Amino acid sequence: MSQLKVFVTRNIPDAGVEMVRQVAEVEVWQDRLPPPYSVLLEKVKGKDGLLCLLTDQIDQPLIEAAGSSLKVISQMAVGYDNIDITTATAKGIPVGHTPGVLTDATADLTWALLMAAARRVVEADKFTRSHQWQTWEPTLLLGADLSGATLGIIGCGRIGQAVARRAAGFGMRILYYNRKRLEPGLERSLGVEYQDFNQLLQASDFVTLHISLSAETYHLFGDHQFQLMKPNAILINTARGSIIDSDALYRALTGGKIAAAALDVTEPEPIPRDSPLLTLENIIITPHIGSASRQTRDKMATMAAANLIAGLEGEKLPYCVNPEVYR
Ligand code: DGY
Repeated sequence: MSQLKVFVTRNIPDAGVEMVRQVAEVEVWQDRLPPPYSVLLEKVKGKDGLLCLLTDQIDQPLIEAAGSSLKVISQMAVGYDNIDITTATAKGIPVGHTPGVLTDATADLTWALLMAAARRVVEADKFTRSHQWQTWEPTLLLGADLSGATLGIIGCGRIGQAVARRAAGFGMRILYYNRKRLEPGLERSLGVEYQDFNQLLQASDFVTLHISLSAETYHLFGDHQFQLMKPNAILINTARGSIIDSDALYRALTGGKIAAAALDVTEPEPIPRDSPLLTLENIIITPHIGSASRQTRDKMATMAAANLIAGLEGEKLPYCVNPEVYR
């Protein structure tokens, strides 16, 4: 039997690659930047498996370029908006992803950003480094209290719930909006109250996004939504950049519609160097590091490898995005 062939689109933690090497001949793209689309089109040709990242455009032409040998696409991320699932499903190719293992890391970063924005930590650090700290001042770098404030969680799945659990210690009222309301017992144990989307925007001092990107959520936040929010509100996004219309966010931050924002994701990524958002003091932007803890990235790599290996061996993927392929 000929050796199975796999392409891995970037250097991922060793534990994952080593697992795949046990069953297949593995080619790993070594550059720091992702393979250009034209290169990826060549690299997937004749491969049995593809282990990819959210930075790779896995669309119909790419899946077709791979040819009939392609048995599995395994993404090392929970989100998969970069993959044409319809085409993969039509071709009977299972697509794997890595839910669960990055929940806590992403919820942690959400809180890091929320608190940094509330208490102006980044501005304060710049202030110190630029030697502006001269004395204790009664009105220097005043921020917002968490205690007694209202937190609005948009999307109360795994990550949204982990964010809610962490809010318990801060004495906040926690609202959530979800497509499907949670069971009453779960609402009680999380201490969350269901709200209609617009009401949540009107009532929240902090709004945090934990939904996936789809046609329905693309630019969900535009001028109208910012208009509904409180002028003291802080918006946190650790989900996907395109959920927010960046131009509308700029208008909201400069026009006093909301007080501040903290983004781990932007549209596009990386954020363009000339983005006007980068000129503002009332925004924090980190480079999509929600899941970037050593332990979490190791788990994501081994989970992606386990999905890939299952697909290569004709087994059901442990974490499959399109289980319809098995019907
Ligand atoms: C994901 O997994 O979708 C995150 O955005 C990156 O870890």
